[in-house]
Amino acid sequence: MNGRAALLRGPLLSPLDPHRAEAFEDGFVRIGADGRIEDAGPWREDLDPRAAIDTGGGLLLPAFVDAHVHLPQLDIRARWGLPLLAWLERHVYPAEAAFADPDLAERAAGRFFSALAAAGTGTAGVFATVHAEATDRAFEAARASGLRAVIGKVLMDRGAPAALLEPAVDGIAATRALAERWEGAAGGRLHVAVTPRFAPACSDELLAAAGEAAREAGLRVQTHLAESADELEEVRRLFPGAPDYLAVYERAGLTGERSVFAHSIHLDADAFGRLAGAGAAVASCPSSNAFLGAGAFPLAVARASGVEIALGSDVGAGPQLSMLDAARHLAYLNRPDPAEILYRATLGGARALGLESTTGRLAPRLAADVLVLEPPLDASGDPLERFVQCVFRQPETRVRALLVDGRPVYGAL
Ligand code: GUN
Ligand code: ZN
Repeated sequence: MNGRAALLRGPLLSPLDPHRAEAFEDGFVRIGADGRIEDAGPWREDLDPRAAIDTGGGLLLPAFVDAHVHLPQLDIRARWGLPLLAWLERHVYPAEAAFADPDLAERAAGRFFSALAAAGTGTAGVFATVHAEATDRAFEAARASGLRAVIGKVLMDRGAPAALLEPAVDGIAATRALAERWEGAAGGRLHVAVTPRFAPACSDELLAAAGEAAREAGLRVQTHLAESADELEEVRRLFPGAPDYLAVYERAGLTGERSVFAHSIHLDADAFGRLAGAGAAVASCPSSNAFLGAGAFPLAVARASGVEIALGSDVGAGPQLSMLDAARHLAYLNRPDPAEILYRATLGGARALGLESTTGRLAPRLAADVLVLEPPLDASGDPLERFVQCVFRQPETRVRALLVDGRPVYGAL
């Protein structure tokens, strides 16, 4: 071994766009000592088979990208029976308040990133809590895990228990301090997102300050948008002058090229068009939406607008971290083609998070973020068909290994 250099051989699958994927029954990925992909494609005669690590039928895929997930909610998954706002009050806010304890936060963060890696997720867009110290521990845990992540300290200044609120200026100052420490850290694997929770928990002042901070510091933005009926009603009550929900974020300067809006279910074609025009992205979280009964993401309308569409687990409203689970729900609900299922779980997420020149495909010069996925034993068909069988037969599918930047972060080859 020379550094992280390795030659992997096996069936290979890599997305090109939402409708096309490259698939090679006998493929390879050659990783350089710097952890980047030197070359990938169909096996060639000039490659040395004795130097190759054969996956033994394991599919070579780009590591999954979970574009929207909540670190502090890992232990409150599957709390069934309430609509969004009542679920937040009853289950989420108490769990997040416990992150005032940095040691608890540190332990939880370690478990969270281990579980993400075990699920085959190489990159995630992560909500931490409102606590600056807990968020700092989350970055530490992400660094130690070897995963790639965009992480945000949650901003809230109203509409939640007092222990989770802070004045706008304090939340923004803490976000800026985290950005100085962590933006681009760990060899470029870590990024800081300005993270106003959602409009019902944020004053106009906080939203405007968040937009300004993102612009000034060149940071990504992540928040929630138009997820559920009770939330929409609350937004109409709190922002009576706003023409629609998205306008609340637009006037705060939060809709830019590096903004990701989770859910975005209850939007019309005009709103999707405005998001697309701004270069923003949406993260559909279909397993979460099914769990909370929030509604159905209008994939066809969103797709027609040209907006970038990623996939998120939204744990803990989503019951599983696995992107196979999120992808299965997307498939049942929206009936995308196989290539689109693959795209949403990988390259779509990378593009949404502004990481398309780093991850999301198996292609030269990108980071070697590689997933080896073992399909069910009797899986058949071409590599894309076998991948789809992994999506629908997740319990019989095994994450054999995950590399990020060419380093093993889970399993073994
Ligand atoms: N909207 C605001 N906060 C949250 C959250 O934690 N989970 C979900 N699903 N929606 C939200
Ligand atoms: Zn969420």
